[in-house]
Amino acid sequence: MTTVTSGGADPVTVLARAPGRVNLIGDHTDYTGGYVFPIAIDRYTEVEMERGTPWVELVSADEEDAAIVSLDDPVDPASVEPAWARYVAGVVAMVRPDTGGRGFVRTTVPIGAGLSSSAALEVATALALGLEGTPLDVALACQRAEQIASGVPCGVMDQLASTSGVEGHALLMDCRALTVEPVPVPGGAEIVVVDSGQRRKLATSFYGVRRAQTEDAETLVGSLREATLADVEQIAHDDLRRRARHVVSENARVLAFAEAFRSGDLVAAGALMVQSHASLRDDFEVSTTALDELVDELTATPGVHGARLTGAGFGGCAVVLAERGARIDAGVDAWRVRASAGASVTVLSDG
Ligand code: GLA
Repeated sequence: MTTVTSGGADPVTVLARAPGRVNLIGDHTDYTGGYVFPIAIDRYTEVEMERGTPWVELVSADEEDAAIVSLDDPVDPASVEPAWARYVAGVVAMVRPDTGGRGFVRTTVPIGAGLSSSAALEVATALALGLEGTPLDVALACQRAEQIASGVPCGVMDQLASTSGVEGHALLMDCRALTVEPVPVPGGAEIVVVDSGQRRKLATSFYGVRRAQTEDAETLVGSLREATLADVEQIAHDDLRRRARHVVSENARVLAFAEAFRSGDLVAAGALMVQSHASLRDDFEVSTTALDELVDELTATPGVHGARLTGAGFGGCAVVLAERGARIDAGVDAWRVRASAGASVTVLSDG
């Protein structure tokens, strides 16, 4: 992440840019301190802002109404209208900037498709408002912004992927130690995102229920990061046992997947993705019929090593690991993504 500071006076116009992410493997593991393996993608949200007003005012080509947030009149971000302004308000509440600004937002991250459009907006807004710190500092502030804006008790993966992306690399994150290890995407691998067309809203999904179930399971067997499959088989409650089994088995799959990437074994990596999808479908129960059918169609496509739902589930996108040049014609849209650098901010004019 590149941070440009103003050297005293506020810069007049800044351009902050933050990527979305696609998670290759490791879903619903971040909030129990497990492992995840996303890439920052070559789709971005940009916030261009002229600093200097005592409020923040952003317009977006994708939204009818502007986001207007006062700096000195604290409001509950979750109650702000229009709904997209809640993320801006959440960031303002976390950054507490001395000076606001006016400007616009544009994005190439599909909104609500499971590619972290909200994290990209938060990170770009925070950087435009002058938040400084390590990629982890910025990610933690923006994770909190997302939580207070949406009421969803999300983990840190999306914001950390957006701030810590490395070109050509996937990111092995340890969500307990809060470390990020870049792992090169093997030559010959193609990562394709396929949109199911099914849109979801995390706040209205079962995300909070699932998180609570993993916490309940932890009261029975201790940290799921440490628990073994034998431990979780002792859980008498059927739902809790299956939720815990997903987390424990998914953490192991992430580590095995990272190893397969390091050795360039795309066939092994693809098989792990298929197992991950089955676990999210059967044990964690966050898939949909549309996603299951899409993943079945994709895994039967020549040149595809593996496919799975990506992100929270309940709709959104599938991610595919394929060989170069594989022809993927499924879902409502499919496009190749490249592992990209993390968020940055530049001063366009300093008055
Ligand atoms: C959402 C959350 C993340 C993570 C995923 C599921 O994207 O924001 O923190 O929990 O769901 O892996």
